[in-house]
Amino acid sequence: MKIHRIKGFADLFSPESDTFTYIENLARTVFSACGFTELRTPVMEETALFRRGIGEETDVVNKEMYSLTTEGGHNYSLRPEATAGVMRAYIENSLYAKSPISRLFTIGPMFRHERPQKGRLRQFHQLNCECLGSDSPVTDADVICMLMRFLTKLKLPPLELHLNSLGCHSCRPVFKEALREYLEGKLRNNSGFCADCERRISTNPLRVLDCKHERCQALLQDAPRIKNYLCPECRDHFLRVCSLLEHERISFILDDFLVRGLDYYCRTTFEVRSGDIGSQSAVAGGGRYDALVEQLGGPKTPGIGFACGMERLALLMPNVERRKSDFYLLAMDEQALIVGFSLLQDLRNHGFSGEMNFQIQSFKSLMRQADKSGALYSLILGSSEVEQRSVTIKNMRDGSQVTISQDSAGAFLKTGLSNE
Ligand code: HAM
Repeated sequence: MKIHRIKGFADLFSPESDTFTYIENLARTVFSACGFTELRTPVMEETALFRRGIGEETDVVNKEMYSLTTEGGHNYSLRPEATAGVMRAYIENSLYAKSPISRLFTIGPMFRHERPQKGRLRQFHQLNCECLGSDSPVTDADVICMLMRFLTKLKLPPLELHLNSLGCHSCRPVFKEALREYLEGKLRNNSGFCADCERRISTNPLRVLDCKHERCQALLQDAPRIKNYLCPECRDHFLRVCSLLEHERISFILDDFLVRGLDYYCRTTFEVRSGDIGSQSAVAGGGRYDALVEQLGGPKTPGIGFACGMERLALLMPNVERRKSDFYLLAMDEQALIVGFSLLQDLRNHGFSGEMNFQIQSFKSLMRQADKSGALYSLILGSSEVEQRSVTIKNMRDGSQVTISQDSAGAFLKTGLSNE
């Protein structure tokens, strides 16, 4: 019986994998230029980390984790996001004692057992950034500017930055109560919330705000708005973030209903959305989490971060063209295979990229392969070339051809390629 890949898990071949590599490389360049260093955390952690960090009542933890119990009775889960693992590593390695600010980025696969659809996989990839140690609104604006700079460099179709403040532990509970009261009032009138929202009204009323159902959205028309409940400190913090972004000409949409799906957020939250990839429109999301480190057993440390979904970025980009090989070597007989193999290794040792045939075939079919490889030059080794220690080099663009000594092939390629 054939074995298939798991539903929602993808094989990534070239050119899609080239696009992913391009996105990752650009991310490394942009994030490093802002003082971020790379942290690679394990893909599996203790389940308790996610339960405590992300929140028991979130869909991510409640319904979507891939969890297992080992024979020894340990409960582990594949990471559904990167933030909790980064916090665990930050605390475990006492990074707070080494530097007042830590800027860390993580790139890799995440796992959520969601219903697969366009832009939504069960194994997906995130570019994740966390900046720990500052609660200044300047930090929020700096992190958002970095994200927008990165997305601009990817040259994507127009995107929308949505921005909101979720307040803090002192002002949010007042808002939450007002919202719950409003929602329960609607519920008493039998107004028809979806089943998820009906449940959330008592468990996590904030999540009702970002329900996608039209009926639920209509019922929220007159719901209380968090902006009217922010304490003076949170209001001032948010106004400063907004004005710093305006100053940098980053346009944004103030979105009262942006609450995000993870429980650790406070104050600034944001999401970048695209109108070009269907219902899974968020290409990036993030926000502030000033209580998370403490909640996970570390010292009180404010933080802010975001993650971009690489599959969704890739959906918005044309495939990146892979760099073409420099040459394709055609060995025409057994002797040429031996000499050609040596020449191939020698040229590769000198930094050229190329391949060769491993079996004898007709000149015509080898030329077809050389053509298909996209190489700029084909190197032909027949019996006379082997005898004279020469090689015939054909420029695949203009068809011109020279026969030179094998020793000078590298120098010839170097000159030719530098003129490309
Ligand atoms: P999130 O909004 O859950 O936030 O995910 C961030 C991004 O990951 C989304 O905007 C989306 O592009 C992508 N994504 C999420 N789920 C899937 C999926 N099933 N398939 C494909 N792409 C997906 C977080 O994960 C937070 N940890 C972000 C953060 C970092 N907040 C602070 N620091």
